[in-house]
Amino acid sequence: MSILVCGGAGYVGSHCLEALKAAGYDCVVVDDLSRGHRAAVGESPLYVGNIADDALMDRVFREHHIEVVLHFAAASQVGESMKEPLLYYENNLCATVALLRSMRRHEVGRIVFSSSAAVYGEPDTVPIPEESPKAPTNTYGETKLAMERLMHWCHVAYGLEYVSLRYFNAAGASPSGIIGEDHTPETHLIPLVLQAAQGRREKVSIFGDDYPTPDGTCIRDYIHTSDLASAHLLAARRLLAGEGSGIFNLGSEHGLSVRQIIDAARKVTGRDFPVEVAPRRAGDPAVLIASNRKAREELGWVPAHSDAESILASAWAWHSSHPDGFGDR
Ligand code: UFG
Repeated sequence: MSILVCGGAGYVGSHCLEALKAAGYDCVVVDDLSRGHRAAVGESPLYVGNIADDALMDRVFREHHIEVVLHFAAASQVGESMKEPLLYYENNLCATVALLRSMRRHEVGRIVFSSSAAVYGEPDTVPIPEESPKAPTNTYGETKLAMERLMHWCHVAYGLEYVSLRYFNAAGASPSGIIGEDHTPETHLIPLVLQAAQGRREKVSIFGDDYPTPDGTCIRDYIHTSDLASAHLLAARRLLAGEGSGIFNLGSEHGLSVRQIIDAARKVTGRDFPVEVAPRRAGDPAVLIASNRKAREELGWVPAHSDAESILASAWAWHSSHPDGFGDR
């Protein structure tokens, strides 16, 4: 029995892959390496190619006895999604249609899917429960929502069992020290702040300090990749045990402002760096915090590593030992 990890060379995918292997599962990876890194996959069998390539997927499903698919293969930059909507619909939604067709051809009926807090858009309730209105404010969030609805209708029509996991702000690095965050270009707050602490970036820009929050900067719910990984294990086990489909938020239920992240980074690294206040970034909600009650109650998930210190210390260890990330770009 194997688990197919689509997008297993990417940031969240590789952390979940590492946890699945540590838990004793045989894993097979498909990744086109357009954004992922070969070194992030370790010793697992890696098929380099796109999940929309039917011939490749037929080979994977023929060569391995796949019981469940974990699907991380998607483009995930909000800004890029607004400039390239066709790329996002193609890469995210169309490729998922192709993946589900391949699964159907090979009678594989279970999938754990990476969704996003971006499906909610500007929330009217914080912490955000899963049943909050879904009103994405960008193309990325819209494609994630469309992928979720696709799974739902495949569940209704074909009995596909799926778990959709809506990540809030994925952050941190594996305690193994072997894998961490490496995006090109980097747009996420924590790696940018740590690069400034390393002196590799001149300064950190705070995108707006006039939000209706205690210090005026945006508040986000940062969730450690180790906690995301434990949730994926629980979700895969739930499907394998026949306990049915579900949609869950993955967040810590604890918000940190941009300024709090900067202060925590100064403390963890022991380094100071210049900070400037820049204009707001279009489409940024002031506050995004998950309600994680459903994941705790129904999956038995306990996020244990998502305090600012654990996130920043693990990310700092990775950035310090891998100043050029995986060094393959
Ligand atoms: N920020 C800055 N300066 C920077 C970079 C970011 O102030 O140089 C701020 C942003 O405005 C935001 C916060 O830091 O308030 C976090 O920004 P990130 O870019 O790290 O993350 P986002 O909250 O924009 O996006 C994340 C995921 C997306 C997902 C989204 C859900 O990266 O994939 O959460 O809302 F869609």
